[in-house]
Amino acid sequence: MSWSFTLPTAAATQALAERLGRLLRAGDLLVLTGGLGAGKTTFTQGLGRGLGVRPGIISPTFVLVRIHPNLPEGPNPGGPDLVHVDAYRLGSAAEVDDIDLENTMDSAVTVVEWGSDRVEHLADSRLEVELERATGTAAGPFMAPSPAPDAANSPDAPDARSTVPDGPDDWFGEGLPDADSFDVDEPRVLRIRALGPRWADVDLAVLAETVE
Ligand SMILES: Nc1ncnc2c1ncn2[C@@H]1O[C@H](COP(=O)(O)OP(=O)(O)O)[C@@H](O)[C@H]1O
Ligand SMILES: [Mg+2]
Repeated sequence: MSWSFTLPTAAATQALAERLGRLLRAGDLLVLTGGLGAGKTTFTQGLGRGLGVRPGIISPTFVLVRIHPNLPEGPNPGGPDLVHVDAYRLGSAAEVDDIDLENTMDSAVTVVEWGSDRVEHLADSRLEVELERATGTAAGPFMAPSPAPDAANSPDAPDARSTVPDGPDDWFGEGLPDADSFDVDEPRVLRIRALGPRWADVDLAVLAETVE
């Protein structure tokens, strides 16, 4: 099954993700796809809200895995933690196994940015979430107003950042500041594909409820 939503603003993306977060259970795996700035981290922030985990979700840049514990005083006490993974630098499923996500999967919802083709073996069910800009050239350049300070200081920082990577091969640093550089709302198309027995009887059309 798959569903598609048009999300006019970052807040709308977060609101949909928050509703999805309320449906998730420990053991669920989400694989996020979409170019730099597509909204993967923004989406994950909303998800974290719905799950009721500790806030402060940022791009996992340079840290492969961040665990956001469920908040006992939050909206979903006793619910799953959120394990937020950036698989960008992980070249293969074997490298994914090295970071031992199996350990946390049973008690957490695991969300993997750039996880496509790397983490599918971790569970027999998953949601594939794809984010894409709804207007303009979907595969075209995505301009950053200025280089990120940390990326600029890094020895392998590129001189020009006028094009956007569309995949790991031409990635040049997700160290770009998240909220500050891309804070203009633009519509996104979000596609969710549900695979495996966990999702067989779940209709995610309900997520659209309050989206305009
Ligand atoms: N409709 C939208 N949905 C999600 N993010 C949006 C939208 N419109 C604008 N944005 C902005 O785009 C940026 C997405 O950045 P981020 O979530 O870090 O992307 P990624 O993790 O895919 O690289 C954020 O600054 C967010 O505010
Ligand atoms: Mg990100």
